[in-house]
Amino acid sequence: MTWLVTGGAGYIGAHVVRAFRNDGIDVVVIDDLSSGKAEFVPDGVPFVRANLLDGAAVREALEGVDGVVHLAGFKYAGVSVQRPLHTYTQNVTAMVSLLEAMADKEIRNLVFSSSAGVYGTPKDEVVTEDTAPDPQSPYGESKLIGEWLLRDQAAATELHHTSLRYFNVVGSGDPTVYDASPYNLFPIVCDLLTQGKVPQIYGTDHPTPDGTSVKDYVHVADLARAHVAAARALESGKTLEPVYNLGSGTGTSVREIMDAARRVTGIDFTPTEGPRRPGDPSRVVANGDLATRDLGWQNTFSVDEMFATAWEAWPKN
Ligand SMILES: NC(=O)c1ccc[n+]([C@@H]2O[C@H](COP(=O)([O-])OP(=O)(O)OC[C@H]3O[C@@H](n4cnc5c(N)ncnc54)[C@H](O)[C@@H]3O)[C@@H](O)[C@H]2O)c1
Repeated sequence: MTWLVTGGAGYIGAHVVRAFRNDGIDVVVIDDLSSGKAEFVPDGVPFVRANLLDGAAVREALEGVDGVVHLAGFKYAGVSVQRPLHTYTQNVTAMVSLLEAMADKEIRNLVFSSSAGVYGTPKDEVVTEDTAPDPQSPYGESKLIGEWLLRDQAAATELHHTSLRYFNVVGSGDPTVYDASPYNLFPIVCDLLTQGKVPQIYGTDHPTPDGTSVKDYVHVADLARAHVAAARALESGKTLEPVYNLGSGTGTSVREIMDAARRVTGIDFTPTEGPRRPGDPSRVVANGDLATRDLGWQNTFSVDEMFATAWEAWPKN
């Protein structure tokens, strides 16, 4: 059994590649290295360096493949507001290109990286799959359109699919692979502490117990394993739900993350405090029970363990 991982040179994709190989599934990677790193692709994994818009390259990568995990995408929600056309091209047009190539090659299984961004600023205390999507950025919209593309293509063809809506993916399951995003909290904190600088908390007047925003953090290694379970389920002909939330059900505040960073690194710092950033929700926590039922999903890391694995993998010089 061989699966294609689009975006397999990225932070999450590199973990998915490792999880598949650990489970005895062969992997091919396609990635244009727009944000990924070639060195994240393990030796021995066939690697096609191309954008998914290049249909010929996608068809080449799909040779002998049984299914696809589609992670390639432009993931910076804030930047997507300034670059909507780029976001739609990379996340929607590129996905159409992938689905066309899959249809040509009669490849019928697909697991899609969706996002908590489809919910926007949810009113529900705990988000479930029944919470109405209300994306508030071109990024969130592009992920929801991706889910619709799968729904519609499945209605017209033999496609079997599921979309995994990730919440805040953090940590590292391999000390050589790290989240290089300049916009995510964990890499920002690691980067500033490495430079001897003090991280900032944006917003201390949220209606939360300590005034800082509360999010649902999940560890990338746990997340990667859920993809293996989804791929195996699709391969065995099991019908999966169209969407699953990969959330832990537990909220952690930014201040609690800073406390974990202090404990883990041994660096004694007091974060500076600034105003809220526009559009930053006060609280987003998701229930992952459906994924636990069908995919054996479990978030097995404490906040300190999540930060420790991120810190260990962070390039420090
Ligand atoms: N990191 C998170 O917390 C998070 C949360 C929700 C959803 N997601 C989604 O998970 C996926 C992976 O995220 P990540 O954190 O690993 O990001 P990443 O930027 O590290 O990985 C994305 C990879 O896709 C590649 N890529 C992008 N567009 C491409 C295209 N059109 N053709 C070929 N390759 C392309 C990039 O080079 C990169 O290697 C993304 O789709 C993202 O939207 C991530």
